[in-house]
Amino acid sequence: MTTNALTIADLKEQARRRVPRMFFDYADSGSWTEGTYRSNESDYAKVLFRQRVAVDMTDRSLKSAMIGQDVSMPLAIAPTGLSGMQHPDGEMLGAQVATEMGIPFTLSTMSICSIEDVSEAIGGKPFWFQLYVMRDKDFVANLIDRAKAANCSALVITLDLQILGQRHKDLRNGLSAPPKFNLNSMLQLVTRPRWCFSMLGTKRRTFRNIVGHAKSVTDLSSLSAWTAEQFDPHLDWKDLEWIKERWGGKVILKGIMDPEDARLAADAGADAIIVSNHGGRQLDGAPSSISALPAIVDAVGDRMEVHMDGGIRSGQDALRALAFGAKGVYVGRPWLYGLGAGGKPGVKRALEIIRTELDTTMALCGERDVRNVGRHNLLDPDIFQSRRA
Ligand SMILES: Cc1cc2nc3c(=O)[nH]c(=O)nc-3n(C[C@H](O)[C@H](O)[C@H](O)COP(=O)(O)O)c2cc1C
Repeated sequence: MTTNALTIADLKEQARRRVPRMFFDYADSGSWTEGTYRSNESDYAKVLFRQRVAVDMTDRSLKSAMIGQDVSMPLAIAPTGLSGMQHPDGEMLGAQVATEMGIPFTLSTMSICSIEDVSEAIGGKPFWFQLYVMRDKDFVANLIDRAKAANCSALVITLDLQILGQRHKDLRNGLSAPPKFNLNSMLQLVTRPRWCFSMLGTKRRTFRNIVGHAKSVTDLSSLSAWTAEQFDPHLDWKDLEWIKERWGGKVILKGIMDPEDARLAADAGADAIIVSNHGGRQLDGAPSSISALPAIVDAVGDRMEVHMDGGIRSGQDALRALAFGAKGVYVGRPWLYGLGAGGKPGVKRALEIIRTELDTTMALCGERDVRNVGRHNLLDPDIFQSRRA
């Protein structure tokens, strides 16, 4: 029962018990030594708040805006691939919860439910779409057009996955969507019968943004070959021009970890960037996102919005990032754990946990309006000073 969960860690344990190992591990893993994945989470503990007292705490507000769009709190669901394998129709359920709660949902290119599935699930209301730039430019152009037609209100372009960081667990578990039938996968599936039965109830079990849309991908056997060769290692800043032009709306560049790249993103005309190391799944040895954030805010925070993700497991973590100057934060694994633990109510529970913690922590810092939170709320705002450039 996800309603029993008091923390994101509780939801993670519930998801571990419900979801077959290959999909649970797909979420709970980082590249190579997983060092960056771990520091993404642990570095938050270094950031201490200033506790203030005897401040009127009534009438608090978490309402804010991200890229000019009103949000009930400055937190969005991050794009995550294969979410429909944590729970049937996962992306549709996540989008429904986000829409009901008044926060953005970002759909991954590598989702199980398609752009059109998600749009239909939320009655044509706006959501955000994350784009991977593939070699097949006709396919990319078509994805952009489909996102526009589905009323997507921001394009999140991921820049840190031109080549794949290796996650050992995925190789060992034989990850695939849907699972291939062999001894390894069968052993993982037989211990999760509830998941197996629930999956029989949906037709959405593979990459529906791709199958039937990309040239020569008509079935599953050609799909794995296609994805392996499709991420475009040529991608550079110039490629963004035609994408921006074709899209014609708000653009968020995801995967920025260096002030120099942040300046280039501002020069490229981004509306926002996401300080992100892909949840520790790409460059193992990169700094944690929270430690990279202050220098990037200092470098470009007056030119565009700076958002961030990575390691947020509580409202306290979210508030730390907002205090450093992030205008919005995203959660990846917390929503996936909620989804795996209990479908739609599980996602709702994950977001409610973070919202309540954020609200209470803000109050105990002596703030009533999340838009007023800043470095004055931190005991040592220069804790990551050595990272500044
Ligand atoms: C299972 C999983 C799949 C992901 N898939 C994508 C993806 O398809 N596109 C993308 O831009 N980022 C992807 N990410 C990265 C997330 O968008 C986000 O940067 C990261 O999860 C944030 O860290 P957190 O999980 O600690 O909150 C993925 C992350 C996870 C955990």
